[in-house]
Amino acid sequence: MRAPGEWAGEFVMLKDEASGLEGVIAIHSRVLGPGAGGTRFWHYESHEAMLADAARLAEGMSYKNAMADLPLGGAKAVIRRPERPFDREALFAAFGRAVDRLGGRYVTAEDVGTTVEDMAVVRGETRHVAGLPLAEGRAGGDPSPLTARGVFVSMRHAVETRLRKPLAECTVAIQGVGHVGASLAAMLHEAGAKLILADVDSERVARVAVATGAEVTSVNQILAARADVLAPCALGGVLDAASIARLSARLVCGAANNQLATPADGARLADRGVLYAPDYVVNSGGIINVAAEYLGWSRAEVGVRVEATHERLERVWAHAEATGRTPNLAADELAQQAIAHAHGRRRLAAA
Ligand code: NAI
Repeated sequence: MRAPGEWAGEFVMLKDEASGLEGVIAIHSRVLGPGAGGTRFWHYESHEAMLADAARLAEGMSYKNAMADLPLGGAKAVIRRPERPFDREALFAAFGRAVDRLGGRYVTAEDVGTTVEDMAVVRGETRHVAGLPLAEGRAGGDPSPLTARGVFVSMRHAVETRLRKPLAECTVAIQGVGHVGASLAAMLHEAGAKLILADVDSERVARVAVATGAEVTSVNQILAARADVLAPCALGGVLDAASIARLSARLVCGAANNQLATPADGARLADRGVLYAPDYVVNSGGIINVAAEYLGWSRAEVGVRVEATHERLERVWAHAEATGRTPNLAADELAQQAIAHAHGRRRLAAA
């Protein structure tokens, strides 16, 4: 990805004195469709730090949406958490009005720090929002089982074609058994895989271990666990020089966003002979569900697209093999190409 200084997108500043709203909507690209990405509600040290985070996240959404074959561009909203007491409903209503003024150029949903209730308040002001309480027969609701399913089908494909054995003969280490990790553990258990789990929440990990017959290890040991596959499903930045040196797994395939501490860690994995399934390619089930909710697709359509996650992963690996790039850089390049081609087609059509 580009450095923040090279940002070529649009910033829409958010300011509402009455409610204390202060933030930015960063729209990286609208070539493939409306800029779509969640709203982060967070503390930022400075205005510049907020802009840099919004720009980085918006660009990431462009790539994620492009690689999921969705008719959506990339954007992200970032709201600074007020230091003084504030009325949450008034703040998100003001945000909803700001989203509405963009007339559909930006579509929002939840992200770190925001909830379904916040999005319901936003919905009171604009229709350009997803991640709302589930409506009968429509796509929507908790995206985590779909995110887990996309990771599962990718992992199954990867072990069969690259490790050349069925999941039932594999051991999978899962870091973090929250919404996605627990759902993934259940699917892998059903498929006969052996599991090693770790979570900072000892009660939660014990519960999932009992349900799936898994072994539990410490949070310090999980990355080095003796397993065929490592599935990071907790935090970002877990793959760095130190952790990669300790890896025992030959494949990394999990849901956590931004697993690589830096793009160079993609090369470190390759140097150690570890195959990487780029996070934003395999964890797209959630955004597919959000897109379906906004675009009015059925749940069946969501299912078909999530089941095809491994085909998109295969495209990335084939591109990596053909170009000699690491999978993370191959994914970024394919996404940039998809956006550039759509841009070219649009200019031709307008000429
Ligand atoms: P969650 O908050 O439900 O689960 C995270 C789990 O990780 C929790 O159980 C937490 O206790 C555990 N954890 C935190 N620090 C840990 C550590 N150092 N070692 C081991 N466990 C630790 O979150 P969720 O929704 O399951 O998401 C997991 C990851 O997947 C996140 O990185 C998220 O950004 C990403 N993701 C989630 C999607 C979704 O649909 N929920 C969609 C795409 C990405």
